[in-house]
Amino acid sequence: MGRKMILKLHILFVVFLLLHDRVGKTATVSIADDENDLAKFVNLFIGTINDGHVFPGATVPHGMVKAGLDTDSPGNQAGYDSNPYYNATGFSQLHDDGTGGGASLSNFKVWPIASCRGGLKSCKTSLKSRKTRRKILQDGTPADEASPGYFSSVLINGIKAELTATRRTALHRYTFPAGTQEPRILIDVTNDGQNHNLGPFVNINPSTGRMIGSGVFLPSFGSGQYPAHFCADFQAEGYHFDGPKEYGIWKADVVEPNVATFTKIAPEVGGILGFKRNPDFASPTTILVRVGVSLISRDQACTNAEEEIPVYDFDLVRTSARNQWNDLLGRIRVDSSAADPETTILFYSSIPVKTLYGSHKNLTMIRFIAMVILIISLKWDTYRTLYPLMSLHDPVTFARIIRGMIDIQKYEGWLPECRSATVRQWIQGGSNADPILGEFFVKFHKQASTLNVSADDLYTALIVDAEKEPPNWDLQGRQASLWIKYGMAYSYFLINTITKVSRALEYAFDDFSIAQVAKLLEKTEDTLKLRNTDGSFTYTDPRHCSVKDPTHSTCYLDGRNRDGFYESSPMIYSQYVPHDTAQLILLQGGNEKFIERLDHILDQKYFDSTNEPSQQIPFMYHYADRPAFSTQRSRRIITEEFNITRSGLPGNDDSGAMGSFVLFYLAGLYPVPATTQYLLSSPYFPSISFYNPLFGTNTTIITKNFQGNPPSGIGTLYVKSVTINGQPWKSNCYLEFETFVQGGLIELELTNDDTVGCGTLPPSLSTGGFD
Ligand SMILES: *[C@@H]1O[C@H](CO)[C@@H](O)[C@H](O)[C@H]1NC(C)=O
Ligand SMILES: *[C@@H]1O[C@H](CO)[C@@H](O)[C@H](O)[C@H]1NC(C)=O
Ligand SMILES: *[C@@H]1O[C@H](CO)[C@@H](O)[C@H](O)[C@H]1NC(C)=O
Ligand SMILES: *[C@@H]1O[C@H](CO)[C@@H](O)[C@H](O)[C@H]1NC(C)=O
Ligand SMILES: *[C@@H]1O[C@H](CO)[C@@H](O)[C@H](O)[C@H]1NC(C)=O
Repeated sequence: MGRKMILKLHILFVVFLLLHDRVGKTATVSIADDENDLAKFVNLFIGTINDGHVFPGATVPHGMVKAGLDTDSPGNQAGYDSNPYYNATGFSQLHDDGTGGGASLSNFKVWPIASCRGGLKSCKTSLKSRKTRRKILQDGTPADEASPGYFSSVLINGIKAELTATRRTALHRYTFPAGTQEPRILIDVTNDGQNHNLGPFVNINPSTGRMIGSGVFLPSFGSGQYPAHFCADFQAEGYHFDGPKEYGIWKADVVEPNVATFTKIAPEVGGILGFKRNPDFASPTTILVRVGVSLISRDQACTNAEEEIPVYDFDLVRTSARNQWNDLLGRIRVDSSAADPETTILFYSSIPVKTLYGSHKNLTMIRFIAMVILIISLKWDTYRTLYPLMSLHDPVTFARIIRGMIDIQKYEGWLPECRSATVRQWIQGGSNADPILGEFFVKFHKQASTLNVSADDLYTALIVDAEKEPPNWDLQGRQASLWIKYGMAYSYFLINTITKVSRALEYAFDDFSIAQVAKLLEKTEDTLKLRNTDGSFTYTDPRHCSVKDPTHSTCYLDGRNRDGFYESSPMIYSQYVPHDTAQLILLQGGNEKFIERLDHILDQKYFDSTNEPSQQIPFMYHYADRPAFSTQRSRRIITEEFNITRSGLPGNDDSGAMGSFVLFYLAGLYPVPATTQYLLSSPYFPSISFYNPLFGTNTTIITKNFQGNPPSGIGTLYVKSVTINGQPWKSNCYLEFETFVQGGLIELELTNDDTVGCGTLPPSLSTGGFD
């Protein structure tokens, strides 16, 4: 029986609860009925081992707080590791998703203690002595559970920890085993992901138990520091305790009872509280911890907590978080009846439900606007697929991010590149804020003012980026002077050759993005000026940075990288001109030679599914008029490299860059950023709809003769003809964004004939595609 049929059989189950407006007193929160509860398809554990560095904890869409379990794994960039060998060290409030670099954030770990033999003074408080194994299931995985807006883990001492969140506040629920005499909870203010706090502060109010604290922490991939603050309050669930029974400050494994404040620099510090047990001693004791977080001040952290979670109702906060996810997930709907269940799970788990954005509306605090973008690897990883996906289903959030970027440029002088927790981090590729602003403006220039984005400010930010060189162009802006003069880039980071070729190619695409905006604003002089050509290159072994590299060279930002490529081989970068593949084909000797080259890259495993520069390669056969090959190749990559197991994301998720890439492949689409084009193949579902809340339109892609998804990628899968709202469409190979603006029905007819061409090829710069 089809999945949809089963869904229809479910009884509509709606519960109304009285609340405040956020999760408060007067609004109503109802649990989504089963058909609208798409969160049930999301598996948050995909990519939590095998270098995915995926964050599986509790958060709301675009929430600043991401509450999760931290382990002592060397791969705990997102705090968590699914491998049960690694032990739990705390439940902290902030995380990144899918980053490389050092362990980021993981600030302010909360830790429950069921028993300290000999009283408060003997509690094991240091990171090393408190860490504890998780309960393991029969299949060898930890007994951890996660779903959008919720996370839980059971420690071997029997304590169950559950987490949920609002935008800037986490709610923790610790259930101690029945019979627990003296439950205690500590907060660790020093041990973030790097076990480092340059300015710890902690204060306890002995009568209420409120604990506030601050720290100054190091970023994971850059220079500088960032401040963070918390405000924690405690309540019992099901009974009252009037304040804590005992309190103290701990330093490593020394607890000083009745001390309420600590401000010196010390390696391991925090506060600890002891509570009254559940008066019904035979029942478990459950303690709720509400933790507000702020990057501004402790007062702001308390305000955030009080505003967002006025009532300590864990299940209510959890339901509200899940509903917010369902709202976002529900904008993309598939007919899952004919696809296998795993594909539907992979699809909904790939909607970047984990991506981290915060936003701060108070423009007078413009310095902190930087926190709009907490995403590390913001630009280089995400400009390719994440923002083009947001264009389809989440344009208002996209506009908020754009406003934040423009505000930063106004305040600091330069567009932000790679940010985390307000700190500038190392730029990886070109100045990739440009294609993100370009993507926004190309698609939403008509709505820009409605979305409160100033076209003038956006354009100024781009031109400054292109033409002025900041002193620290490894952290912001770009190496503009050399690029303008010679069309080349060089000298990056520690030594003088790093990543110059990658950056030159990306600058060229960045300039194309700016030219796209200039054209819409009729700034024709700038359009011409910005169409620079690439520079010339020194010889590099094309196998460099690939799995076939005989020298096993490194291609990261370190002193051993001497060849000019970043995180991808010359094989891949030689194909990287997304805006002018037609010209690339000419230069590479025509369609046949170009196809041979793509085949070589894919067959010889130069294609690297773990990193973003490779993402468009399998779809490039479109430009040589052989779209069936793109369909076969992209589908084989999904079959071979991506799945719903914990290891099913082969590289860092990079804040949803990988997730959105997988989602596009499953949707039978691939975006060309900063253009109106989406390359078209066949979706994995007989029908897929995108709802765009800005336009209020649904666009549904239907496959008339859907016959399933053979793992080989060979079958009745190649697009033979397309109609849009009943009218024949000129191309089998791409769709225009305008179709998604207007909404309606796109119907595909598939064939098993792999020689069927595009009709009209997807446009390129040299063929006049963007004139
Ligand atoms: C986790 O704790 C267990 C039990 O104390 C210990 O055997 C194991 O080595 C620990 N794992 C790590 C990674 O330290
Ligand atoms: C913005 O923040 C500043 C500094 O904290 C504060 O003085 C001002 O009242 C805030 N404005 C609004 C509108 O919240
Ligand atoms: C734009 O700004 C106005 C005025 O501040 C506000 O009412 C409106 O909600 C904003 N629109 C968006 C999409 O943020
Ligand atoms: C899932 O994908 C990962 C990463 O590509 C791979 O290592 C693993 O073998 C795959 N597992 C299954 C069951 O297909
Ligand atoms: C779009 O589709 C969704 C889900 O199928 C539906 O709830 C909504 O009413 C549709 N909206 C419009 C404007 O057609």
